[in-house]
Amino acid sequence: MHFPPLPSALLLALAIHSGVSAAADEKVVEPCTVASSAGSFYDLRKLSILPPKDGKKPGKNEKVDDWHARGYDYPSNFTLNICEPVVGGLEHRPVGIDKDLAQNVSAYYETGGKIYSIGQQNSNLTLRGRRLVLQYTDGSPCGGENKKRDNGDDEDKKSAKDSRRKSTLISFHCDKDPLATAPSLTFVGASPDECSYHFEVLSKDACIGSEPAKQGVGPGAVFAIIGVIAILVYFLGGVFYQRNVAHARGWRQLPNYSMWAGIGSFVKDIFIIGTSSCARFLPSRRGYSALSVSANGNGASRGRGRGPEDENRLIDQLDEEWDD
Ligand SMILES: *[C@@H]1O[C@H](CO)[C@@H](O)[C@H](O)[C@H]1NC(C)=O
Ligand SMILES: *[C@@H]1O[C@H](CO)[C@@H](O)[C@H](O)[C@H]1NC(C)=O
Ligand SMILES: *[C@@H]1O[C@H](CO)[C@@H](O)[C@H](O)[C@H]1NC(C)=O
Repeated sequence: MHFPPLPSALLLALAIHSGVSAAADEKVVEPCTVASSAGSFYDLRKLSILPPKDGKKPGKNEKVDDWHARGYDYPSNFTLNICEPVVGGLEHRPVGIDKDLAQNVSAYYETGGKIYSIGQQNSNLTLRGRRLVLQYTDGSPCGGENKKRDNGDDEDKKSAKDSRRKSTLISFHCDKDPLATAPSLTFVGASPDECSYHFEVLSKDACIGSEPAKQGVGPGAVFAIIGVIAILVYFLGGVFYQRNVAHARGWRQLPNYSMWAGIGSFVKDIFIIGTSSCARFLPSRRGYSALSVSANGNGASRGRGRGPEDENRLIDQLDEEWDD
């Protein structure tokens, strides 16, 4: 049976390590979240109003109604949802919006008994510098000045020619006020051609957050890597010892299975076999010196503090077991 030399085992450990890193760099960004290359992360999913689930009553503080913004000098108020279509439902189809698209309107206003969409659902957040932005496009046709004369199908026919459609730009601001409870949405303004509408959201949820732990090498992954290396060192060290000191061959070269029984004895055996014992018994020191560097890592003092009796006792015990 041929075992790979220690350097290739370390290369294997390194390969495992870099494999973990590569997987961590791969960002799977959820809808309504955004991560910048500089490491900032934003999650606005708490601002999305979701339709009530069948038979499930919403929580006491859970918002079930769409976001509303007052128009002030603009002649209408606005209804919006963040990243999701509006949940309140539309009384009738918005001007110039196909029937199958009407269910995905994310922002609208009502005037003169008509509903004007100002954008279709979108959950792609954009980070411009430190400003977080969400845009809805493909709303009702612009043509602001004609809208009062148009009705129903005439408007639709005309809209086929007019490719300009209303859109919405929402910018999100971090609310640092610790007393602020509910997020607020305000209408900032509309372009003179009534094609573009701008809103601002002030919310705690727009503050920079930390990415979920599954992305990035967490403490768990680092621990796993250390564990893999420790097991490799233990295994190869054990085989090395059994071949050269006990002159075992075949399966007997494998470190004794009973050593795996308890983690305590596992750690102890690494230090005893890996460090002091080998140092004195090994005929060849080349493999050992590489081994002891890895095994010495955080327990060298403990290993050295043991008397030779401990080591001899362990070796005797191992010898007995091999003789079975
Ligand atoms: C907009 O809402 C306010 C209250 O929030 C209301 O007083 C006003 O009449 C509304 N305006 C329109 C055009 O519906
Ligand atoms: C509406 O949105 C849902 C999910 O957001 C999507 O699955 C569906 O295809 C959209 N419908 C249309 C007509 O765009
Ligand atoms: C959102 O981003 C995805 C992937 O980048 C893209 O395919 C999709 O068209 C975008 N949606 C909108 C509404 O911009």
